Amino acid sequence: MESTKVKERIFLSSPHMSDEGYEMQYVKEAFDTNWIAPLGENVNGFERELAEKVGSKSAAALSSGTAAIHLALKAAGVGEGDIVFCPTLTFSATANPIIYQNAIPIFIDSDYETWNMSPKALEEAFEKYPEVKAVIVVHLYGLSADMDKIMDICKKHSVAVIEDAAESLGTYYKGKHTGTFGDYGIFSFNGNKIITTSGGGMLVSNNVERVAKARFWATQSRDQARHYQHSELGFNYRMSNVVAGIGRGQLKVLDQRVAKKSYIFEFYKRELGGLEGLEFMPSNEWDEPNYWLSSITLSGKVRPIDIFEALEAENIESRPVWKPMHMQPFFEKYDFVGTDVSEKLFGNGVCLPSDTKMTDEDLERVVKTIKGLWLE
Ligand SMILES: Cc1ncc(COP(=O)(O)O)c(C=O)c1O
Repeated sequence: MESTKVKERIFLSSPHMSDEGYEMQYVKEAFDTNWIAPLGENVNGFERELAEKVGSKSAAALSSGTAAIHLALKAAGVGEGDIVFCPTLTFSATANPIIYQNAIPIFIDSDYETWNMSPKALEEAFEKYPEVKAVIVVHLYGLSADMDKIMDICKKHSVAVIEDAAESLGTYYKGKHTGTFGDYGIFSFNGNKIITTSGGGMLVSNNVERVAKARFWATQSRDQARHYQHSELGFNYRMSNVVAGIGRGQLKVLDQRVAKKSYIFEFYKRELGGLEGLEFMPSNEWDEPNYWLSSITLSGKVRPIDIFEALEAENIESRPVWKPMHMQPFFEKYDFVGTDVSEKLFGNGVCLPSDTKMTDEDLERVVKTIKGLWLE
């Protein structure tokens, strides 16, 4: 008789602390010295170590990736009424800070080659809005955008570039880390990211002074004075010393996590690759992805909803590809440049479980459930 016991849940991507307990060592240090907050050696260390890992001159540890995007826009001089180009296929956190700055997002379509910002649509957008102030590029699901093409276009128009690399820590484009091509890059350490601090973000840039300014804004813009003196609007956006300790420990296992995510992707490719109408997210010879989420599109008789439902029945988490921003009730009033690529990716896409704690048995459970749909 089949067991009625609920099978253990398989997650899309959930926190995975190091086997070695690195995170606890740093957190313990903060506790032992009573230096749990506000700033401290873990914050300084995490900034230094992350900047070194990605190859950037400086970094500011913040309370979230969203806060980092917000301060990057501010550092780039984006203010009221300014136009900012933003990929439509992304999480809303990429676009929300544009509104925080009272600026105007213009959404740009993806291409099938990268799933990221289409250089062709970007050129069209520049023709339509030559006065644009900044461009945000996203590296979705750990896949790199085509940075050479995008940077060429942006340089031609002398516009600031912010890379939302929230999902792409550990991803390299032509050997250079994502998030280091533009004027500013941001990373997220939210609970579902490749490494996590429970919540947090990082702003990186080679412009050391602008990063120092961002740290200033992030600590309520306190002027240098004995009393509390403020000449500018401030934010409470700094990362705490405890949280940064988790980040320092997690950074030590980033390469391990990328290796496991890559293993998961290869496993799915091997097992599901032949199924009719099923295609994997794009591979480009210049891209070394971190494979944050293994994602597929479907064009045959099996639809995304069939996969979501079949996996959920087995207590396995999966989810659709991001719903484009220009289709979101809150953002639909803003202009969109492109065709129907991002809409199609949303309609046909599935993000498969890519949790680094998954065993081969877990992966087989996922694969067996999906394959079963092609046998019906
Ligand atoms: C593409 C993208 N941008 C921005 C963010 C925002 O990061 P956070 O949750 O740390 O604010 C996320 C993740 O949450 C994301 O996936």
